[in-house]
Amino acid sequence: MNRIFSGVQPTGNLHLGNYLGAIRNWVRLQNDYECLFCVVDMHAITVWQEPKQLSASIREVAAGLIAAGIDPKRNILFNQSQVPAHAELAWIFNCVARLGWLNRMTQFKEKAGKDRENASVGLYAYPNLMSADILLYKATHVPVGEDQKQHLELARDTAQKFNSDYKVDFFPLPKPLIFDTAARVMNLRDGTKKMSKSDASDFSRINMTDDADAVAKKIRKAKTDPEPLPSSPAGFEGRPEAANLMGIYAGLADLTLDEVCTRFGGSPFSAFKQELADVAASVLTPIQDEMRRLLADPAAIDAVLRDGAERARALAAPILREVHDIVGFVRP
Ligand code: AMP
Ligand code: TRP
Repeated sequence: MNRIFSGVQPTGNLHLGNYLGAIRNWVRLQNDYECLFCVVDMHAITVWQEPKQLSASIREVAAGLIAAGIDPKRNILFNQSQVPAHAELAWIFNCVARLGWLNRMTQFKEKAGKDRENASVGLYAYPNLMSADILLYKATHVPVGEDQKQHLELARDTAQKFNSDYKVDFFPLPKPLIFDTAARVMNLRDGTKKMSKSDASDFSRINMTDDADAVAKKIRKAKTDPEPLPSSPAGFEGRPEAANLMGIYAGLADLTLDEVCTRFGGSPFSAFKQELADVAASVLTPIQDEMRRLLADPAAIDAVLRDGAERARALAAPILREVHDIVGFVRP
């Protein structure tokens, strides 16, 4: 059986990278797989979160997912902290995964920065919690943006080591599902850095909640180069900003990069940017309207999350019980 698990952190605004790299693909996959989508609040607190802001973000992300087209009846949508089995399996994985594996994780190095000694232990162990998220449900496929590929490899290594240490064939090795177009949406001010929630400049990203004017302004100010747009993807060499903006267009308009290059090759950036702003607004506006409608009724969002957590707990319980048996914990 194929089962999908994916997660998104409730830390600040959802942005176009989250949408194009992950959420949009989740919406498409929900027809073909059994899916669990998780607002990973326990991952969020690996770096400091203001409690009130965290609560608001959890509901906002849930609303954003529903507004983008995730059907919470057909899928399981929940927040991680409400299914304690994630933390329990993560502890077991803390004892399976090796220090050397975690030392190689580039996201930790980026997030911890120079002051490693001062990073939380949770930030370091973060990938083990992520492995637990996935394997707790024996998920087989994990749709993510490219930045999560290394964490997925660690989850596979952990599953494999668990199976071989305990001489069982218990956990499947989960496969990443990374889609070609817009798997890595870059920063609007610097085409060599990824678009992220944590960049200090709001002009570096397009938030899902930005209105059409804000989107147009950010796109107008986005970094470019003086050449006209290339007429094939081969022309992206040394032009990260052109690659990024045309990639975003391809994602939003559901075209291939070749098609976008054919359409805009030879045009100046200025004309293209206007079209890009229009397509971005046409995709984002209906999602924003729906998000606003949902957020006006937080109790309804909570009801969706409560129902999702209940169903997730029911799926997780027998799997965690089996893990306990395999490890040798007594269940008196
Ligand atoms: P996060 O915001 O880190 O919780 O990420 C949630 C999902 O969005 C993950 O699947 C990420 O891989 C994806 N994602 C985050 N930033 C980007 C980006 N700049 N480009 C493409 N995908 C992204
Ligand atoms: N680490 C992921 C990110 O920052 C979020 C995440 C947590 C996740 N658990 C997951 C993604 C499980 C996929 C599967 O984007």
